[in-house]
Amino acid sequence: MAKKDMKSILIVGNGGMARALLDLIQFSGNLNVAGFYWESGEELCGLPIFNRIDDVDPDTGLVLGMLIPTHRKQHVEQLGKDRFVSVLDGFISQTATIEDGAVVVHDSYVMSLAHVGAFAHIHTHAIIGHDCVIGEYTFVGPASILGGRSNVGSSCRIGMGSLVLPDVVIGDNVTVAAGTVVTKNVEQGITVSGNPARSAFRTVPGRF
Ligand SMILES: CC(C)(COP(=O)(O)OP(=O)(O)OC[C@H]1O[C@@H](n2cnc3c(N)ncnc32)[C@H](O)[C@@H]1OP(=O)(O)O)[C@@H](O)C(=O)NCCC(=O)NCCS
Repeated sequence: MAKKDMKSILIVGNGGMARALLDLIQFSGNLNVAGFYWESGEELCGLPIFNRIDDVDPDTGLVLGMLIPTHRKQHVEQLGKDRFVSVLDGFISQTATIEDGAVVVHDSYVMSLAHVGAFAHIHTHAIIGHDCVIGEYTFVGPASILGGRSNVGSSCRIGMGSLVLPDVVIGDNVTVAAGTVVTKNVEQGITVSGNPARSAFRTVPGRF
């Protein structure tokens, strides 16, 4: 389901993440995807690509279909926050709060009193434990599990299959490598990997 009442949605993006989101939304069957929005291209997965925002019906909601938080933020600022809608297709506790523009895809879980920030993305089979906080624009990869009361900052990238132990605090702009077990707090802007997690890089890594 989408938070705002709209005729249909466009997925912003033209890569693998955009196509994965199309599949997941179509599988859950709650929303009509009218196509994609991207600066170039005509068609993707049999659906049209809109290249100019002026050509998009104002009643059509936009949904972020890309992974990297900085790219997500650029597109929201460029296209306007108000044009974006939330997609709430996972299991979401009645007591959880989800900010506008967030995407919680099919087969993910947001537990009691958790909070998901604006334009964050919770990917399939991820579990956001009770009382967790997820910052705006943060991407939580597939099959990641965040223990209760853990707190992830804004614009973070949580790699697939990561585990974050309860009560851990992760700063803004942190990258958690795939398969990492985060046992202690992580300061902002670094990349951690391994079990237990260790600081791996100070610069923003490439492959995600
Ligand atoms: C951590 C990560 C961002 C690093 O990417 P990168 O900057 O291209 O780094 P490299 O692949 O050059 O690897 C650098 C080093 O880190 C190690 N490394 C990379 N990924 C790792 C991981 N997940 N866990 C442990 N070590 C890892 C490499 O083996 C390499 O070690 P070395 O220097 O001893 O040879 C990337 O490997 C990763 O885990 N991305 C997450 C992908 C993901 O989950 N995407 C979501 C898809 S939906």
